[in-house]
Amino acid sequence: PVTVFPNQKVAAKEVAGRIANLIRKKQATGENAVLGLATGVTPIDVYQELIRLHREDGLSFKNVVTFNLDEYYPMKPFAEQSYVRFMNENLFDYIDIDKANVHVPDGTLPLEQIQQYCLEYERKISEQGGLDLQILGIGRTGHIGFNEPGSAPNSGTRLVTLDDLTRSDAARDFGGKENVPTKAITMGIGTIFKAREIILMAWNTKKAPIIKKAVEGEISSEVPATYLQQSDKVEFILDQDAASELT
Ligand code: F6R
Repeated sequence: PVTVFPNQKVAAKEVAGRIANLIRKKQATGENAVLGLATGVTPIDVYQELIRLHREDGLSFKNVVTFNLDEYYPMKPFAEQSYVRFMNENLFDYIDIDKANVHVPDGTLPLEQIQQYCLEYERKISEQGGLDLQILGIGRTGHIGFNEPGSAPNSGTRLVTLDDLTRSDAARDFGGKENVPTKAITMGIGTIFKAREIILMAWNTKKAPIIKKAVEGEISSEVPATYLQQSDKVEFILDQDAASELT
């Protein structure tokens, strides 16, 4: 299903509210809420609202376990552009989550250890009982996580090569495209699909053409987000601008 909100603030509030409900429901039964999280500009307002709910509404994250979708490779955790840093600065430092429950793919490992590490990442997700909710943004290539065009629907967590357009879009953060890593570690499409619920968010007219393809286009590895059409546990949450090209 596709749900369109008048603007991104209202949409982000809705997504944060659903996350908060999940956390509270799990708290009531003494279980953990296992969340798949994304970085980038899209989820920032969701994280802002979660921080507000923590501060003003008593929402606790003590029973929350998180797995981030991806990280650049190579990447040091304290580097300006690292997703570890992003998550700390946009969410984790402002809530009461146990840092031992936080997982972001490790961009510091030597190449030969990555395959093993990726299997381990999958295993850790399973060990927690799987992801209750995965939130996604979408790249202009149609990537989800960093599953670029050509990604297989059953792909797992792995090292991937970033698409040229994705590196251009990241150029500003890195002070030039030449500084953007060519690789990343990402959860696979298969990993994402194992989540019990998936929410893809998109705001802004910049995303309207790729949202049209993702929602209405032919299902194809050329636009990995089209795989999401195949599942009814997926919801596209859009603002009017991102939805503006949908028929
Ligand atoms: C980030 C991620 C990416 C982004 C996508 C959109 O963890 O997995 O797929 O969601 O590149 O990025 P923004 O939100 O910056 O437009």
